Amino acid sequence: MNLSEKIAIVTGASSGLGAAFAIALVAKGATVYGLARNAEKLSAIQNRLGDTFVPIAMDITNQNAITSWVNNTFSNSYLPHILINNAGAGYFGKVDELSLEQWHAMINTNLNGVFYISAKVVPFMKKNSDSCHIINIGSVLGKTSRAGAVGYSASKYGIQGFSEALLKELRTDNIKVTCVNPGSIDSHFFKDSGIEPHHNMLQPADIATLVVHVLETPDNFLIDEITLRPLNPRPMT
Ligand SMILES: NC(=O)c1ccc[n+]([C@@H]2O[C@H](COP(=O)([O-])OP(=O)(O)OC[C@H]3O[C@@H](n4cnc5c(N)ncnc54)[C@H](OP(=O)(O)O)[C@@H]3O)[C@@H](O)[C@H]2O)c1
Repeated sequence: MNLSEKIAIVTGASSGLGAAFAIALVAKGATVYGLARNAEKLSAIQNRLGDTFVPIAMDITNQNAITSWVNNTFSNSYLPHILINNAGAGYFGKVDELSLEQWHAMINTNLNGVFYISAKVVPFMKKNSDSCHIINIGSVLGKTSRAGAVGYSASKYGIQGFSEALLKELRTDNIKVTCVNPGSIDSHFFKDSGIEPHHNMLQPADIATLVVHVLETPDNFLIDEITLRPLNPRPMT
C-alpha cells in the first residue's frame, strides 16, 4: 500500500506506540484519526503533526460512542484504509489479587473495544476498492505467559485468535490482518504496569517503522503475525 493520502484510524494514539504510529503515518502522507481518552495529549500531538492528525477523544469501551463516530465519519465516498487496534490496558497480579475492575478494564479495552471498532469499520473497508489493512497489537504475553499475567495474557491470547479468524474471514475481501506481538516497550504502559523495566526496551519509533514496512508491502503480500523482542533484556541495576 502506498500510504500517501490513505485514511487511517489509530486507537491509543495519545502516547507510546499509538503516538509513534500516528507520527510515522502522517510523515508518509496519510490522514490519521487518533482515538484515546485524554483530549489534552491528543491535541498536543495535533499541534506537533498538523491537521492530518485528527484527534478524537473517545473511550473505545463505549460501544455506542464508537458506533456513532464510525458511522458519522465514514461514508461510501469517504472510506478508511487502515485500522490499528493499539489501545491497551495492563494490570499484573496473582489471580486472587487482581481486582474485578482491573480484569474488566483489560477485557473491555483489549478485547471488547477491538471488536466494537473492528465490527463497524470492516463494512466500510469492504466497500473500498483499494486494499485495506487491520493491524492488531498483541503482545509476547499473547504467545507465552508467566505468573502474574492471567488477565493480560487472557486478553492478548484472545487477540491472537481474533486476528487469525479475522484474517481468514477478510482476505478474500482484499483486507489484510496482521497481529504484532511486541516484547517490552519503553512506554507509560510498562512504567505503570509494575513490571521491572530494563535498559534495552523496544523503542516505539522502531516498532512504528516496522509497522509502516508491513503496511507498505505489495497488495498480494500478507504478513499475518510478527513477534519482536529486545535482544538483551538485562534487569536494571
Ligand atoms: N509497553 C509494553 O511493554 C507492551 C508490550 C507488548 C504489547 N503492548 C501493547 O502495546 C499497546 C500500546 O501500549 P503502549 O506500550 O504504547 O502503552 P501506553 O503508552 O500506556 O499507551 C496506551 C494507549 O492506550 C490508550 N487507551 C487505554 N485505554 C483506552 C480506552 N479505553 N479507550 C481509548 N484509548 C485507551 C491510552 O490513551 P488514554 O489514556 O488517553 O485513553 C494510550 O494512548 C497496548 O495494546 C499494549 O498492550 C505494550
